[in-house]
Amino acid sequence: MADIRLEGVGHSYDGGRTWALKPMTWTWQSSRAYALLGPSGCGKTTLLNIISGLITPTVGRIFFDDRDVTDVPTAGRNIAQVFQFPVLYEEMSVYDNLAFPLRNRKYPAKDVDERVRQVARLLGLEDVLRRRSRRLDPGRQQIVSLGRGLVRSQVAAVLLDEPLTVVDPALKWTLRSKLKEIHRDTGHTLIYVTHDQTEALTFADEVVVVNDGAIVQAGEPAELFLSPAHEFVGHFIGSPGMNMLPAEIADGVVRVGESDVGLAEGDLPPGPVRIGVRPEFVLINGDRRSPGVAARVTGIDRMGAYDLVHTLVGEHTVTAKTEAGSPYTPESTEFLHFPADRTFLFRDQVRCGSLAPLNGRGTT
Ligand SMILES: Nc1ncnc2c1ncn2[C@@H]1O[C@H](COP(=O)(O)OP(=O)(O)OP(=O)(O)O)[C@@H](O)[C@H]1O
Ligand SMILES: [Mg+2]
Repeated sequence: MADIRLEGVGHSYDGGRTWALKPMTWTWQSSRAYALLGPSGCGKTTLLNIISGLITPTVGRIFFDDRDVTDVPTAGRNIAQVFQFPVLYEEMSVYDNLAFPLRNRKYPAKDVDERVRQVARLLGLEDVLRRRSRRLDPGRQQIVSLGRGLVRSQVAAVLLDEPLTVVDPALKWTLRSKLKEIHRDTGHTLIYVTHDQTEALTFADEVVVVNDGAIVQAGEPAELFLSPAHEFVGHFIGSPGMNMLPAEIADGVVRVGESDVGLAEGDLPPGPVRIGVRPEFVLINGDRRSPGVAARVTGIDRMGAYDLVHTLVGEHTVTAKTEAGSPYTPESTEFLHFPADRTFLFRDQVRCGSLAPLNGRGTT
């Protein structure tokens, strides 16, 4: 196992006209479980293929610890990769498919058997070991592919590219927790690609959020949720995503329309900003003496476990997540508060500061 370091690594498929992956410097630490999270087309697969050697990056160098592997072909990198769809020898038994990566590297037969049975047990494949892979349904075949990726204990990293797409949703949860178990057991460096935030947040020690060919933030799930550093992270993580509301800084005070909502923390120059606050933290009708803004309720989604109260502040939508059975009705005017420790300020999409309590300053 090794740290995998990308130094100025970027990739263009069209001779430098556009960058599928913008040049980046980044280290994947040994033994950690990462989720690589981002929307379709943001460069996730390109990044994995660069690490495994299927793609040589247009610029930059790749190191496994201190060894420069940029020009080392896939076979020499000792990486296990699992793709979105099953990659199996269809005429071979499940057992032989699982054993293949080990036999290929001349593991002793006893070790092969032990390891194959261990992985089969973890993934629930014991009953089908003798069956031909072709005869399994696609979901099961994908689980075998997953097993092939996990069967070798000594690899530099295991790369999983949306591995559970073809698997039945109910099974997904089980498999994901199995994956975590296997990760705890083997201490592989795991990079798990997904565009599903739930999948990313429930699986990883660290979630790396990619947008438009660049890493916008990396951190533990709670950090991304509580303290997004980029508007994209605010939108992409959370359900629904973070509210963004245009505001103005003047004389150190943050104003939304005519209302002062707090002080700008972070020594910011005057001018426009966007306030970001998650629906979970928007308070409706808290202490009326504390600063806030008037909002017109436009609709309420009763979700069972909670309500989503949709409002308009001026012409901008702000959604609050409240307890189920909230008393608000459409067209009523309510008062929204943005708690200082949970409200951030953004400029050009990047977090530039946060809100601080007014402490008697301001006009509201
Ligand atoms: N072989 C290729 N030739 C040309 N362009 C490509 C090639 N592969 C990917 N691209 C482009 O590079 C960008 C990144 O693609 P990539 O497949 O890495 O994204 P992704 O995040 O894996 O997306 P998805 O979630 O849909 O799998 C996209 O704009 C894509 O169209
Ligand atoms: Mg992809």
